[in-house]
Formats: sequence, C-alpha cells, structure tokens
Amino acid sequence: MRTQVAIIGAGPAGLLLAHLLARGGVAAIVVETRSQQYVAARIRAGILEQSSVSLLTEAGLGDRLHAQGQEHRGIYLQWPGQRHHLDFMDLAGRSVWVYGQTEVQKDLVAAGTAEVIYEVSGTALHDVTTDRPYVTFTESDGKPGRIDADVIAGCDGSFGPSRHAVPSRAFERTYPYSWLGILAEVAPSTDELIYAWHPGGFALHSMRSPTVSRLYLQVPNGTDPSAWSDRQIWDELAKRLGHGQDGWKLTPGPITGKSVLPMRSYVQTPMRHGRLFLAGDAAHIVPPTGAKGLNLAIRDVALLSRALVALLRSKDPRLAGAYSDTALQRVWRCTHFSWWMTTMLHTSGDPFDAQLQLSQLRWVVSSRAGAAGLAENYAG
Ligand code: FAD
Ligand code: DHB
Repeated sequence: MRTQVAIIGAGPAGLLLAHLLARGGVAAIVVETRSQQYVAARIRAGILEQSSVSLLTEAGLGDRLHAQGQEHRGIYLQWPGQRHHLDFMDLAGRSVWVYGQTEVQKDLVAAGTAEVIYEVSGTALHDVTTDRPYVTFTESDGKPGRIDADVIAGCDGSFGPSRHAVPSRAFERTYPYSWLGILAEVAPSTDELIYAWHPGGFALHSMRSPTVSRLYLQVPNGTDPSAWSDRQIWDELAKRLGHGQDGWKLTPGPITGKSVLPMRSYVQTPMRHGRLFLAGDAAHIVPPTGAKGLNLAIRDVALLSRALVALLRSKDPRLAGAYSDTALQRVWRCTHFSWWMTTMLHTSGDPFDAQLQLSQLRWVVSSRAGAAGLAENYAG
C-alpha cells in the first residue's frame, strides 16, 4: 500500500490527524493494534479545554459535542471546611467542556474520514531518516502488511514503537501515588468539578453526563482496585469530598467501572526524527490532575496537520521544521501545570508539605493573580 502519511495508532491523536489531513487534501492510512470497539470504549479523559472545543468544531466534529457536552464556567477547589469556586470565564474569559474521550473517539469514527486497519500486530518502522519511510505489520488474518509513505506519524501512545525510533532525550518524573477511578451510574452531586485536598489524600468529583459520575481517590502505588469494596470507595469519597460540609451531600450509586491509574510526567525531545513525527502520548505523558493529556494530543495534531499539509502539498518544509520546538513549548507549559496541580493537591504524609500546600491553596483562592494563573492554564 502507498499513502502520503502512515499513522501508527487510532487513538484521538491518530484519528484526528487523519481527519485534519483529509480536510487538507493529504491522504493517510492508520494502523491500530486494538479493535475499533476496544478503542472506542476505553474510559480515559473527560475535560476539553476551550481551544480543543474550537478546533473540533472548526474541523466539523462539534455537533454532538455542542448538543451533549456540558459547558462549565470553572471548578471548585476545596480543603476541609472550605470550598471555593474559581470562575474561569470571569478570570480568563474561557470555559471548559465535559465531553468524554470516548465521545470524541465516536465522533471521529462516525466522520469516516480515516482509513484504519484495526487489530494489527508486530508494527515496525523503517528508514525514517530517508524520504521513503515505511511501516510493516501483520494483519488480523495473518497476512503481512506494508505501508510506504512520505511521512510517518507516531500516534501510538507511550507503549507503542514510534518513540523508540527517535534518538532523543527523555525527561521523566514518577509520583509516589496513583488514582483509583470509578465510573458510577448516578447523577453528579455537583454542578462543576470538585478538586479536594484532604489529609487522607486527594479526591476529585468529575462527571461524564447528567446521569453518569466519574470520581477519583488518591491511593498508594501498586493498589489493587479489587481490594476496595464499593462501600469503602463511597465512604472515602464522602469523607474527602466533605459530605455534610455546609449541607452538601455526596449521593452514591452503582459503580460500573473501577481502575487504578499510576501518575507519571514524561517528555521526549525532539518530537521529530527525519520523516517520523511524534504526537500525543507517544511524545509526552502528564499526570491527570490538570486534565491536560487529551488536550495536548489535540494541540499536537493541530500543529502537525498544518505542517504536513504545507510540506506535502506546497513542498514548504518550514512548519515541519519548526514542529518539535513549537509543540514542546506548549508541552512544557502543560507539564509544569500538571506537576503543580498534582503536587499542590496530593498528600505526601509530610506535615511540612501539607502546610505549604494549604498555604498555596489559600493564596490561589484569595489572590486574583493566583486564581487567574490557574484558570489560564486549566482552560487552555
Ligand atoms: P492513545 O489514546 O494512547 O492512543 C494510542 C493508540 O495507539 C492506542 O489506540 C493504541 O492501541 C495504539 N497502539 C499502541 N501500540 C501500537 C502499535 N504497535 N501499532 C499500532 N497501534 C498501536 N487524560 C486526561 O486528561 N484525563 C484523564 O482522566 C485521563 N485518564 C487516563 C486514563 C488512562 C488509563 C490513560 C492511559 C490515559 C489517561 N489520560 C487522561 C490521558 C489521555 O487519555 C491521553 O493523553 C490521550 O489518550 C492521548 O491520546 P493519544 O492518541 O496520543 O494516545
Ligand atoms: C477528569 C480527569 C482529570 O484528570 C481531571 O483533572 C478532570 C476530570 C475526568 O476523567 O473526568
């Protein structure tokens, strides 16, 4: 097979890149190890920043988002005895949207613009520093496959082969805690997300729709999700989120999904090697506290699609040449913000750290400059 751009990975980065390239008149083929159903059902991110909503809307992918997504003006930040609303519209002139990654993925599949070969194995990249790179793989029926292309886009997340094909420097931080995440068939107990500092550990009340809640608890690394009963999870969430505080109540409901998510920061530089370009989690991972992972992936492919259209249609290499440096500026801003939110809100067991965190939280909610800094970074 021959195409202009061979894309590895049909997550949001790979499918959106294929969609934007098609709109720019550039052909692409995507290969993906998992099935279409598996990729579409994976529960991951849930918050879109304003710039992601604008990009998806301009790309013709906004109909369901605008009909079913929930626009939020801001978030609540709290610690025992205190809950404060940060109004991003007022502070930064921007809002955020609750719209699950599963829904973005469904919209991309429904658009039908990407040609995807699902359930491949043994994906390998070849000759990426020449102008005839190619990708090989085995199709689900055992037939060998090969895609010859002008460019390869590595959108295969942190476990895929693309990032290993870039001789690069990696910057990494692992955190001494994980999140236990649940999905529950119950109306959210809050109108906007609650980020809660608590001496027993961080908790987050998020949501997916008016009838589905998504909540997280800070837990030690290596926690087995099945070691927590549903009852224990709801009791701990009630404690950390302040059930009873000023009359607020957390309503529990049936838990339909439970998983543990380790936390890591990772940045690989550069994001390009010859004719191979990395985008999304293949190049960087952030801890989820600032809700940035999906938004960064969207930002990367917005840049990359413009660069590849210029390179392949107008033979103009300037944007492609600048891609890695341009993308990394935003990547490092989000890496810092995600690290900052994470270290401000997760308890380490050290009483000195706890006092510093509480002091910082009080500053963020009482200083317009502090609140605006959080709002600008969160809303994108
Ligand atoms: P991915 O979504 O990982 O897509 C990569 C694709 O490449 C996958 O479909 C994979 O199957 C495929 N692939 C891998 N190897 C190969 C191969 N060899 N050949 C072909 N295809 C391959 N972000 C948030 O903002 N908030 C959250 O709450 C949140 N929760 C998360 C929970 C989990 C468990 C994980 C893993 C991530 C979470 N994230 C969250 C991060 C967010 O989901 C990612 O940043 C986002 O999915 C990045 O999109 P992507 O397309 O770059 O990567
Ligand atoms: C969600 C995840 C986050 O990391 C976050 O900061 C906000 C919301 C979510 O899954 O809904």
